[in-house]
Amino acid sequence: MTGEKLLYIETFGCQMNVSDSEKVAALLKSEGYAPTADSSAADLIIVNTCSVREKAEHKVYSYLGRFRGLKRERRFLLGVGGCVAQQEGERLLKRVPWLDLVFGTHNLHLLPEMVRAAEQGERRAAVDFIDNETRLDLFPRADEAGGATRFVTVMQGCDNFCSYCIVPYVRGREISRRSAEIVEEIRNAVAAGVREVTLLGQNVNSYGLKTPGELTFAGLLREISAIDGLERIRFTTSHPKDISPDLIACFAELPKLCAHIHLPAQAGSDIILERMNRGYSRQEYLAKVAALKAARPGIQITGDIIVGFPGETEDDFLQTLSLMEEVRYTDIFSFAYSPRPETAAAAFAGRVARKETQERLDRVQELQRDMTIERHAGFVGTCQAVLVEGMSKRGDQLYGRTDGNLIVNFAGDPALIGSLVDVRITRGYPNSLLGELTTVQ
Ligand code: SAH
Ligand code: SF4
Ligand code: F3S
Repeated sequence: MTGEKLLYIETFGCQMNVSDSEKVAALLKSEGYAPTADSSAADLIIVNTCSVREKAEHKVYSYLGRFRGLKRERRFLLGVGGCVAQQEGERLLKRVPWLDLVFGTHNLHLLPEMVRAAEQGERRAAVDFIDNETRLDLFPRADEAGGATRFVTVMQGCDNFCSYCIVPYVRGREISRRSAEIVEEIRNAVAAGVREVTLLGQNVNSYGLKTPGELTFAGLLREISAIDGLERIRFTTSHPKDISPDLIACFAELPKLCAHIHLPAQAGSDIILERMNRGYSRQEYLAKVAALKAARPGIQITGDIIVGFPGETEDDFLQTLSLMEEVRYTDIFSFAYSPRPETAAAAFAGRVARKETQERLDRVQELQRDMTIERHAGFVGTCQAVLVEGMSKRGDQLYGRTDGNLIVNFAGDPALIGSLVDVRITRGYPNSLLGELTTVQ
């Protein structure tokens, strides 16, 4: 085939999908596909999907629907990857007849071959799990991607089986990547200008625990922290049950480790936590939060909350609100419970009415909005080290993040993108801070 072919990728879902989309782009580059931001010019469109809640899954089908007519107008290939692909497999090819290929969360490496087959008119679905470590090492590293911040996958999959969650079914068993490989990737990234890394996994705290001879997550953090030229380390997501005293100690010991942790509680009532199969009690969760705050005063804590879980009473719900107040989260993501195929909770009795669930969600969001505004106001007058990530959406200001992961907008020279600067905070908004540049560090 002559001439350049164009690839458009649409990504739904979490950071894991964003990271997989980067790998897809890198893999298909060697097949002659260059990235485009214009789907109407693409020869191949890949949709990377999320199925964590019903709504996310519906969004995928309505998105795919729009290509039906377009397929009659011009020739292009349409592929679906990610968690809905994993969940549905062959069924997706039947349900969406204008679809050319389906690849699951463990099958990225098969894409070049599948795309070649699709170019010949063959429709394939590949969704087998490959439970070995090699697949983590198959991917070309995206060293060419610029920027001062980088996500680095350290583990994949999840073995926790929270009773509401589809992730263990669509991402497979937990596998940790080799620490030597992770450290090498970060060294190379730092040499290419990266100053901050975010270590990525469904449950990073259990890193290495099932791999004989491997470092623990705390051990991995210490190794990464020793890399010269790297300024900041973040990680996401943490499961509260696997936060070890050694990991908490890292927040006291390692200045490069940022003062922020995303630590989803999901609920505040012991009965609900038990039924969610979360593996910790309210008291255990709060004790870990207190230990984190003691290890790193000023640490920003964010989390996830689910309301309307089967059997959740008004009293259970009030305990979620009181937990939020005790932790005083900087911010949270909050969700209405959504039953998912294969999960244990989908068969639980005591479904909470939609109206009730929505009302609880509103109350959670109202409480959090007030706490977030108060937190943001507390920063006014302080000076924060900010890693400048780019131009704000309006294009007239720079934006970056504080050590505690708050977004700050401020006026400044675009040449500062990629550097750490000092910013005095002048105003707090519900979603961000406003500031002014003081000195360049
Ligand atoms: N591995 C991460 C993220 C999982 S998905 C973790 O364990 O924290 C992100 C969030 O989606 C979860 O924390 C949970 O709050 C929410 N979620 C997952 N399944 C859900 C469901 N069935 N209904 C509503 N929210 C759900
Ligand atoms: Fe889902 Fe629980 Fe695993 Fe998070 S820890 S991905 S909520 S099963
Ligand atoms: Fe969604 Fe899959 Fe991530 S279900 S949240 S894209 S792991």
